[in-house]
Amino acid sequence: MVEGTSNNINQPTPSNTNMETITATQTPPGPKGNLVLRPPFDLRNKTHFFIEWMADKYGDISRAKAGPFNFVFLAKPEYIEHMFLTRDVYVKMNEGSQLKYLLGNGLLTSEGEFWLKQRRLMQPLFHKQRLQGFVQKIADATNAMMNDWEERNMSVPDFYREMNQLTLDIVGRTLLSTDLKGDFAKVNKAMTTVLESVNKNRGRLFRLPAWLPLPSQIRLARSRKVLEDTIAEIISARRKDTRHFDDLLSMLLEVEDADTAERMTDKQLRDEVLTIFIAGHETTANALAFTLYLLAKHPDVKKRVQQEVADVLTGAELTYDLLNKLEYTTMVIKESMRLYPPAWVTVREAAKDDVIDGYLVKHLDKVVVSPYAVQRSEKYWTEPESFDPERFNATNIKSIPKFAYFPFGGGSRLCIGNNFAMMEMQLVIALMCNKFDFKLPDDFVVETQPFITLRPKDGVPLTFVKR
Ligand code: HEM
Repeated sequence: MVEGTSNNINQPTPSNTNMETITATQTPPGPKGNLVLRPPFDLRNKTHFFIEWMADKYGDISRAKAGPFNFVFLAKPEYIEHMFLTRDVYVKMNEGSQLKYLLGNGLLTSEGEFWLKQRRLMQPLFHKQRLQGFVQKIADATNAMMNDWEERNMSVPDFYREMNQLTLDIVGRTLLSTDLKGDFAKVNKAMTTVLESVNKNRGRLFRLPAWLPLPSQIRLARSRKVLEDTIAEIISARRKDTRHFDDLLSMLLEVEDADTAERMTDKQLRDEVLTIFIAGHETTANALAFTLYLLAKHPDVKKRVQQEVADVLTGAELTYDLLNKLEYTTMVIKESMRLYPPAWVTVREAAKDDVIDGYLVKHLDKVVVSPYAVQRSEKYWTEPESFDPERFNATNIKSIPKFAYFPFGGGSRLCIGNNFAMMEMQLVIALMCNKFDFKLPDDFVVETQPFITLRPKDGVPLTFVKR
């Protein structure tokens, strides 16, 4: 893994590491006035380009005011590392965070001691031995989807939509032991409504607070309620069920605090289940859609992946370790997430004043880091716009500067599902490349859309044939 630091939740949280004590008064350079009044850019639809533009025009640290908020943009790996590792200064946003409103006190949105306790409880659920138990469930969901395509005479109108359905099915099977055809239909419907409402409000920057009584917020509140009630029902039914379930929910029900032997309350379970649903499905769907797009655009790379898959999956039992033998396929996935990082932006709030390289970051500033911008910067990558999986071979990977590549974030809040996601993507790509060939219309070029996750704007129109 090259991204971020090791996933050590107990690491110290140094304040102002290698940075001066708070004496600076100079704020970072940036555009004058309020961005909302005089936008230099289409901020709603092109926020990712705007962040690149800020770095080009104003340098590694810059600042802009948008609405009532001051944003500080960090574009240098050392600064990004400082933000991720200085946990007592850079905290998750509370006010105006739609995710917080939606997910309550789940792992993605909680902070402080509460977050640390939950993270310690949940970390073991994502260890390799546990993930092994999910390999077959992921393969079953993928095979079901591919059989469906065959029954539909290979009609796949939008591959991106299919990937969303597939990753939702996978999270349903691995988290709750339900599939799209069973009880899960209800959760699927509510989840889709919630995600649509959230996405209608666009990206995470420059947005109105979630509590404002706008029609879109009212719709979101309604669908959130449906989803919460549905998940609460599933949890309550599971508590009464004496059968054994091999899924994340039963693990969540069993984990207990090592000191107090306390277990999670129903409310906490509900927040964590919702969090895993939201954090774990659209990100992976986007990465899969962009990866197959890139493979279709680069037939030589696709051929090498198909060859590797055929060599590795020679009827052998599918295991977590077997999937890690797909070295080239893994390089392709990493390169795809360099060009198209699904979690394209991360925002923190400064809990107190800080100084970064002589510039003052003020209490309550929103600090923004974007893997999209840094992973496409000429400062750290040769020909950054070109697709070259060799950047991630065993030799080249060593020369990637720390935090010039961070699709899963970094520091103690590194994505808890990163190994799960890598395994899921390796497996889905391997099964699909083994069974099908695919291509794009000749002139198709994907456009990106920075919603909560980075999406392919008009989908990915792949056509599939059986190999
Ligand atoms: C390609 C797929 C994925 C990407 C790119 C991704 C990316 C990320 C990133 C960047 C963060 C850190 C956010 C921040 O610092 O504010 C994060 C956190 C998180 N992710 Fe993922 N993720 C992916 C898949 C998953 C999956 C499959 C799961 C669960 C099964 C998951 C669960 C979580 C959770 C619970 C957190 C919060 C962790 C914490 O703060 O302690 N993610 N993810």
